[in-house]
Amino acid sequence: AAAEKGGYDTFMAKEIHEQPQAVADTLRGRIDESGQIVLDEVRMSDQDFRDIDKVFIVACGTSYHAGLVTKYAIEHWTRIPCEVELASEFRYRDPVLDRSTLVVAISQSGETMDTLMAVRHAKDQKARVLSISNTVGSTIPRESDAVLYTRAGIEVAVASTKAFLTQLAACYLVGLHLAQVRGIKYADEVSAILDELVAAPGKIAKVIENLDPVREMARECAANGDRVLFIGRHVGYPVALEGALKLKELAYLHAEGFAAGELKHGPISLIETGTPVIAIVPSPRGRSLLHDKIISNIQEVKARGARVIAVCEEGDKITAVHADHVIETPASPTLLAPLLTAVPLQEFAAELATALGRDIDQPRNLAKSVTVE
Ligand code: G6P
Repeated sequence: AAAEKGGYDTFMAKEIHEQPQAVADTLRGRIDESGQIVLDEVRMSDQDFRDIDKVFIVACGTSYHAGLVTKYAIEHWTRIPCEVELASEFRYRDPVLDRSTLVVAISQSGETMDTLMAVRHAKDQKARVLSISNTVGSTIPRESDAVLYTRAGIEVAVASTKAFLTQLAACYLVGLHLAQVRGIKYADEVSAILDELVAAPGKIAKVIENLDPVREMARECAANGDRVLFIGRHVGYPVALEGALKLKELAYLHAEGFAAGELKHGPISLIETGTPVIAIVPSPRGRSLLHDKIISNIQEVKARGARVIAVCEEGDKITAVHADHVIETPASPTLLAPLLTAVPLQEFAAELATALGRDIDQPRNLAKSVTVE
């Protein structure tokens, strides 16, 4: 078993370290010489893609969080309205679906029953289904009209890491594909984003090289028995949700992710002296409004006694002034930043759970693939 783990203590540690390669593999060959995105299986025409006037993303767990990130990208790049929904809720509320609806199903295993049932419901209503899966030939891709496979390789640890990052990469490709077949609105932006995507694996590797400070903070939180809150805005919000989910899954600790702007509407009452708050801070460049807003959220929680750990872009001096600790990640376009900012949160959860003596690869009560509804 030690050999299978490639010298790491756990499969999760191994899989965290495999992320740069997994993302590179997922991108490889998907962008042709002319810069067009290539899907794996397409049983629908370009015209079908052009007719789409609404996108629903359905998924569960970590895959749902990849979907939440994707909504920001798809709406920005394609101007098509995009909703994200937990697969287990989707078919029970009579969603409005027709031939011009694209349902994007994200499932690592391709066998999650909740997601499969959402796909079948969508197909019954004549919607088109595009799936993103890590398992070639699994049920969800087989029943879809188009497929893009992630190439994370086998993920053993129950808590998803490399599958999540490859889902993000694949989702960005799908968003760019939609933008391309429909006539690109932001041609320059799309080619710049493609360059940035190709550069992402190198940046993820840099994040992984610098995880020691995160581990130290995780051990501190474990020693204090803290519950942990995560806050973010824009794509940092789904990253906050994923950070909290990892901690729940692995450490059996109460953790919540919040949209930072929503704090004042309730959750801020949870803050006590010393409560750790992990803030996902967007780049200070470009969308500085977003950055200003999260800085004021950091000030709000600090004023109530929180201990703030900020995940921010390297060289972000403003955040360094306001937060108690900073975890720096390389510069990246806002929409692609989750590929980087999610990684320290994975390590944080794994280290905290290790300090509490938990079984990292096989958390209690959880299964890797859930094939019941
Ligand atoms: C299970 C796993 C989660 C996963 C979810 C969705 O609950 O424990 O890690 O995110 O299923 O799985 P899928 O295979 O559909 O992505």
